[in-house]
Amino acid sequence: MSLDYQFPENFWWGSAASATQTEGGENGPKGKNIWDKWYESEPNRFFENIGPEVTSDFYNRFKEDIANMKKIHHNSFRLSISWARLIPGGRGDVNPEAVDFYSKVFDELIRNDIEPFVTLYHFDMPLELQEIGGWENREVTEAYADYAEKAFELFGDRVKKWFTFNEPVVPVEGGYLYDFHYPNIVDAKKAIQVGYNTMVAHAKAVKLYHENYDGKIGIVLNLTPSYPRSQNPADLKASHICDLFFNRSFLDPAVKGEYPQDLIDLLAEYNQLPATKPEDKALLKENLVDLLGVNYYQPRRVKARDSQPNPDSPFMPDWFFDNYEMPGRKMNPYRGWEIYEKGIYDIMINLKENYGNIESFISENGMGVQNEERFLVDGRIEDDYRIDFIKDHLKWLHKSIQEGCNVKGYHLWTFMDNWSWMNAYKNRYGFYSVDLKTQQRTAKKSASWFAEASEKNGFND
Ligand code: BG6
Repeated sequence: MSLDYQFPENFWWGSAASATQTEGGENGPKGKNIWDKWYESEPNRFFENIGPEVTSDFYNRFKEDIANMKKIHHNSFRLSISWARLIPGGRGDVNPEAVDFYSKVFDELIRNDIEPFVTLYHFDMPLELQEIGGWENREVTEAYADYAEKAFELFGDRVKKWFTFNEPVVPVEGGYLYDFHYPNIVDAKKAIQVGYNTMVAHAKAVKLYHENYDGKIGIVLNLTPSYPRSQNPADLKASHICDLFFNRSFLDPAVKGEYPQDLIDLLAEYNQLPATKPEDKALLKENLVDLLGVNYYQPRRVKARDSQPNPDSPFMPDWFFDNYEMPGRKMNPYRGWEIYEKGIYDIMINLKENYGNIESFISENGMGVQNEERFLVDGRIEDDYRIDFIKDHLKWLHKSIQEGCNVKGYHLWTFMDNWSWMNAYKNRYGFYSVDLKTQQRTAKKSASWFAEASEKNGFND
């Protein structure tokens, strides 16, 4: 008997996590990354002063966690390799204990019929490389390509789905525009260079992979559809420019191999073009992704600016638009982000119509909740709000598939509650809650719902 929302055969049901957020910074030998450094110098910038050394201890408990994934019928799981763990210092010799750890994790996943999807870079630059300028420095793109090659060599026999970067726009925004990631610089010209160099590094890794391996390689982008306040030309223009900066400056080079001309023209007009090399054009053009991970949390509502920016102030993308607090929009009351389920459908239709219907999946979607303990009943978190959130998004995803979008799966952020950068443990997202004192994992109600949907490959209304 068919379900109301039946997904295509072999649909990828799973969740996502990242190394720095789960492994435990003090576990096993590893080099320092920018998070260790920032926390050492400014612990009070982190929620409740909790830093990356305290996490959910995946390093020691991965077998138990993978058994829990199996229990809820995951057939795939995205995790990242910590660059500074695999190659302390970012360049040079690999750390044999890291090779052993990641090998065991991938083997354990495969033994449990859970396909590992592996991200090479989830916000965690090795400190030594940041000290020579991080993504501002073109040399780091070479170091990254060497790291990627090493990872393919070591694990490419077992890992068949790779992602070069997770949300590359976030380190740009956080580290170089809005001060929520290390190195806490506010400088749009540097931000643009960092974004550009990231895509050069990305293309180098794609090239190396395609030359020697037969799996798939892609990138994970957080796409935030940009909705204008009105159809007035000024609002439409503001929304278009916002889309160029925050979505298309990564989506277009990754999928089409080139930057949008409107973006190039705008940056040229304001003297903000990044430094490039002649060979970059061909590098980007010839090394397109096979697969796109889409992280979707919330849309952007955009309006034209009420006043002109001071032309003597430093250039910022925000010169061209303002955020718009649309009256009546539905909010997640426990995190403060807008919930707009149809956004997931709009993204997929856009990929179908304008990006060659590239193979894609939802690589993150999820609902963060503060003080989630308030929903504890008999030791289990009754997160009906999360079940509704997932269901409502899956319904729109289902509709996009019915309309021919090339969508292969849905991963929740995240498998178990974990440390989340500056927000540390403020917002909980997991299928499993984690007691930070005992490290005990407990399935939330949403885990049971998801287990059933995954097993049946769909659900009823
Ligand atoms: C995603 C990131 O964008 O948001 C994750 O990929 C992050 O790494 C997640 O943890 C949740 O963020 P926050 O700030 O709500 O805890």
